[in-house]
Amino acid sequence: MRGIELVRFLSTGFAILTILACGEQPIDVQALKSKPKEYVGSDTCKMCHLEHFDSWKMTLHSRMLQDAQKNRDAIVTEINEKEIRADLAKLGDKLKVPADKIYVPKIEEIKYTIGSQWKQRYLVEKDGKLYIAPVQYNLDTHRWVNYHEADWDKRPWIMGCGGCHATGADLEKNTFVEPGVACEACHGKGSWHAALPKTEVFEKRATIVNPAKLTMGVAVQICGSCHNRGKSTKVKGAGWPVGYEPGKALEAFYKSTSFEAGDVKHVYANEFSKGHHQQYIDWSMSKHAKEGVTCTSCHFVHQVGMPPTRSQTVGAGSKQCLICHDMINNNLAHSIHSFGNCVGCHMPRIAESAESGDIHSHVFVALLPKDTLANPVIPNSCQTCHKHKDQDLKQLQAEYDALAVLPKPVGPSIQPIHLHEPKKESPKPAEKKESPQKPAQR
Ligand code: HEC
Ligand code: HEC
Ligand code: HEC
Ligand code: HEC
Ligand code: HEC
Ligand code: HEC
Ligand code: HEC
Ligand code: HEC
Repeated sequence: MRGIELVRFLSTGFAILTILACGEQPIDVQALKSKPKEYVGSDTCKMCHLEHFDSWKMTLHSRMLQDAQKNRDAIVTEINEKEIRADLAKLGDKLKVPADKIYVPKIEEIKYTIGSQWKQRYLVEKDGKLYIAPVQYNLDTHRWVNYHEADWDKRPWIMGCGGCHATGADLEKNTFVEPGVACEACHGKGSWHAALPKTEVFEKRATIVNPAKLTMGVAVQICGSCHNRGKSTKVKGAGWPVGYEPGKALEAFYKSTSFEAGDVKHVYANEFSKGHHQQYIDWSMSKHAKEGVTCTSCHFVHQVGMPPTRSQTVGAGSKQCLICHDMINNNLAHSIHSFGNCVGCHMPRIAESAESGDIHSHVFVALLPKDTLANPVIPNSCQTCHKHKDQDLKQLQAEYDALAVLPKPVGPSIQPIHLHEPKKESPKPAEKKESPQKPAQR
């Protein structure tokens, strides 16, 4: 099956490539550039960047929005109305519409799925517009919950979500070019670049955005254009940066809203994220941001030839941090555990996508029990593990204070390296004596 597909698309690729590379008329670069840049879709990029394409296909970016009419398997669960209503009924008076009155889509009404990791929502069509059906499936807890059950058909998807979950969303035309976060969401419109023959390497490079070649600020704003809760500065009511393109300054198109007065739903009192898709604002507060450690220092977007880890991190677990922090202070907080999962303490799961505690903090600051004692609405890193029904926070802090003052040896000291000293002959191995470990006295 895969083989056949591969052959099929390789041959289409070759056919189009031949046309592009040795087509009858040579490409007139000036004429090409006199037309505005357009979106061409990732299937066009695939013809020349097959490995990037394959790698991207394995990431969640490519699967954010999936056509459920073409592929029913995109729906991660059963659409069983009875079970859905039974789950909704458990929510009792949290519901604005009674459980038996909430609109539940039939499977054939579902046009697209949104998400597949923590939660899945469903797009249905009404009067030519896409709307988010008012039921949501939470994957970790296998339960259905409500989602804007009272006003769902007054919240068009393209306005609230379109630009972040699809590529080339157009509010005026009510269309998008491609479902999911595709190549051109991060590299910009590709029509000039794609049309140029392969041999025009420099023109090619000059006609597409390579984030690695931008200054750090605008490069990270590409990620920040979606991993950031906010509102459009151009179109009232739009929840995404309408008109923004990779390489531009995000601030001109988008305003973060998480810190707005009274928004206790999306940030804690210490301004750490409580809501999801806010990694950019968390990160902005961090020492990493100040030192130029950006999203792509830790995350791959498409690692050629390598399947991604969860969240596409460069290393798994603590290794992610030890790549750079090869020496850390072994005293204080770092002395209390016989293991050291850096992520567990420095990136506690305190933000929520589907159920509380599924998303990692990106401020990289470990929160101690005393932070919660000082303000009970602020969570701490420790209780993602040290959570028992009768866990006494004061006691945990006291234990920590007692342990974290003890200086600990920091392992073998570092030997100075003498680069220019003449090489000495290695000493002959000493004659075998009795083991020095043997105790002197019995
Ligand atoms: C006809 C073949 C072709 C197509 C189609 C194509 N590319 Fe390229 N791309 C190239 C070539 C050739 C280069 C230059 C390689 C080099 O730098 O050595 C390149 C370079 C790039 C670079 C790196 C630019 C730089 O400055 O380093 C990016 C990013 C890129 N392409 C993205 C895309 C995207 C996104 C699409 C789809 C919109 C696309 N390409 C479609 C052939 C193609
Ligand atoms: C989520 C954003 C994002 C998406 C989606 C994305 N890219 Fe990239 N791409 C990047 C970033 C960031 C870099 C620079 C990587 C780095 O910092 O080394 C890059 C680099 C590249 C390069 C330059 C060579 C390299 O590997 O560094 C090519 C070519 C490329 N991407 C092609 C593609 C194609 C083709 C697609 C779609 C199949 C795609 N990209 C989708 C963000 C993205
Ligand atoms: C156009 C919007 C958009 C842009 C631009 C974007 N992302 Fe994303 N990103 C998303 C969405 C939406 C998801 C959730 C996908 C899903 O769950 O299906 C996501 C998911 C992720 C994930 C989690 C993947 C996992 O396996 O859990 C990482 C990591 C990530 N993005 C990093 C980046 C980085 C780094 C950049 C910049 C180079 C970037 N994103 C640019 C929208 C975007
Ligand atoms: C500013 C960009 C942006 C907007 C607007 C936005 N999202 Fe997202 N959404 C993201 C990003 C980025 C992620 C993944 C990262 C995360 O969850 O922390 C995500 C994750 C999700 C997920 C979970 C995906 C999974 O695999 O579990 C769902 C479902 C979702 N969004 C639905 C919506 C809906 C519905 C709307 C509109 C009402 C919306 N989002 C508006 C950027 C956005
Ligand atoms: C210092 C390293 C580091 C930096 C910088 C970083 N991340 Fe992460 N990120 C991680 C780690 C570690 C995880 C959790 C990996 C896991 O276990 O799934 C993660 C998880 C995520 C996830 C998945 C949701 C979750 O919390 O589980 C998204 C989305 C994400 N990061 C986006 C971003 C974006 C966008 C940026 C830049 C604004 C960024 N990250 C910067 C290390 C980093
Ligand atoms: C690409 C390199 C790089 C990676 C990967 C990285 N860091 Fe950092 N980190 C730095 C730099 C540079 C600084 C700022 C200089 C310093 O304070 O040491 C820093 C600072 C910090 C600080 C703040 C120190 C202070 O004095 O306030 C913490 C905490 C931290 N990192 C934790 C982590 C954790 C946890 C991870 C893994 C999820 C990680 N780092 C991954 C490079 C990195
Ligand atoms: C038990 C929770 C915990 C674990 C596990 C942990 N840290 Fe820390 N870390 C802290 C706390 C709390 C601080 C604040 C300073 C202190 O009290 O030592 C800190 C401080 C830091 C600092 C800044 C100052 C310093 O002392 O160097 C860096 C960098 C850092 N940690 C990196 C890491 C890395 C890398 C790992 C994984 C190898 C790690 N931490 C594991 C809790 C933890
Ligand atoms: C990733 C899970 C995890 C996190 C996060 C965590 N702990 Fe622990 N902690 C453990 C486990 C498991 C043990 C027992 C095994 C051990 O001592 O290594 C332990 C042991 C302890 C002990 C007793 C050590 C001893 O020698 O008696 C103290 C005190 C402690 N933790 C405090 C903290 C504090 C304070 C934090 C937050 C900064 C924290 N822990 C974060 C899992 C965790």
